[in-house]
Amino acid sequence: MKAQLESIYNSAKADIEGAKSISDLDEVRLKYLSRKGEFNSIKKGLKDLTDEEKRTVGAFANQITEELENLIQDKHNLFYEKELSEKLEKDRIDITLDGKFTPLGKVHPLTQTTNEIVSIFRNLGFSVASSELSPEVETEYYNFDMLNVPKDHPARDVQDTFYANIAKNVVLRSQTSGAQIHIMENQKPPIKIIAPGRVYRNENINARKNNFFHQIEGLYVDKDITFGDLKGVLNEFIRLYFGASRPTRFRSSFFPFTEPSAEVDVQCIMCQGKGCRICSGTGWLEVLGCGMVDVNVLRGVGIDPDVYSGFAFGMGVERLAMLKYAVDDIRLFFNNDKRFLEQF
Ligand code: DAH
Repeated sequence: MKAQLESIYNSAKADIEGAKSISDLDEVRLKYLSRKGEFNSIKKGLKDLTDEEKRTVGAFANQITEELENLIQDKHNLFYEKELSEKLEKDRIDITLDGKFTPLGKVHPLTQTTNEIVSIFRNLGFSVASSELSPEVETEYYNFDMLNVPKDHPARDVQDTFYANIAKNVVLRSQTSGAQIHIMENQKPPIKIIAPGRVYRNENINARKNNFFHQIEGLYVDKDITFGDLKGVLNEFIRLYFGASRPTRFRSSFFPFTEPSAEVDVQCIMCQGKGCRICSGTGWLEVLGCGMVDVNVLRGVGIDPDVYSGFAFGMGVERLAMLKYAVDDIRLFFNNDKRFLEQF
């Protein structure tokens, strides 16, 4: 019996040495050491031996099965480590690869410019009108009549202004100045407010003109407001927006809703004042209209011009953006070319 055990032991040892993987080892264990394995079937014969034989053969059987268990376990550990390191090597992630780039959206340059202008005026004490006081679809009454624009003024011409065909006298506003009327109808002086928004004009589109663009209207009405206040506020705005070194000039002008009226020109950034296509050779670009609110406008909304006075202004957002960032074609703002938009 001992010889039988020895020969099983030897062939088991040979099988263990020949095993090439963990699953080979599992098979060896099943074949020799499991409940139905070869050792167990031999051990069943122990019961027929004498007590003395039982003790020695039994001890021998236990010793060699324990040895085989150890051999299998050692080899199992070896295979396990080898397989693990192979798997780790295979599944390795290359962390030096670039990640996937998801571009972030940005605020449109005209919105950026509007935000910047609004924040400057907020710091100068102006509030921002709610959108109900500054509608894009207007009546002639607000867009022209109440602003003292004569019935025969050329700006009313259908060639300049978009008239809606849904109802007579309804227009897409050609200027944000109508907001002045809504504001003064709804608020008593002191009034110190701005109203940003989109306006529409029936223009031939070119590098300088689009058939819609953006304006920021401003209105300051209180006791004792003078043209000096107007110049002070607008000069401060220009200094904060363009920096102190940008040449600007006030030029007298005419608007039906202000008296006296002026325009502010800023030196053309494209040619540094030498004269180019963008500034029609003048070296200057007009950025805003302004003036002291006409007494007829104040009377129209029930404000007594003997008690109150005020100034108003309307500036072009596209012009201000073009002059700050040297954009030489207004259409670039509306083409949605990412290469352009990404630069801001
Ligand atoms: N509404 C004028 C325009 O679109 C600009 C303007 C001029 C606005 C004088 C004003 C102003 O408030 O006082 O050309």
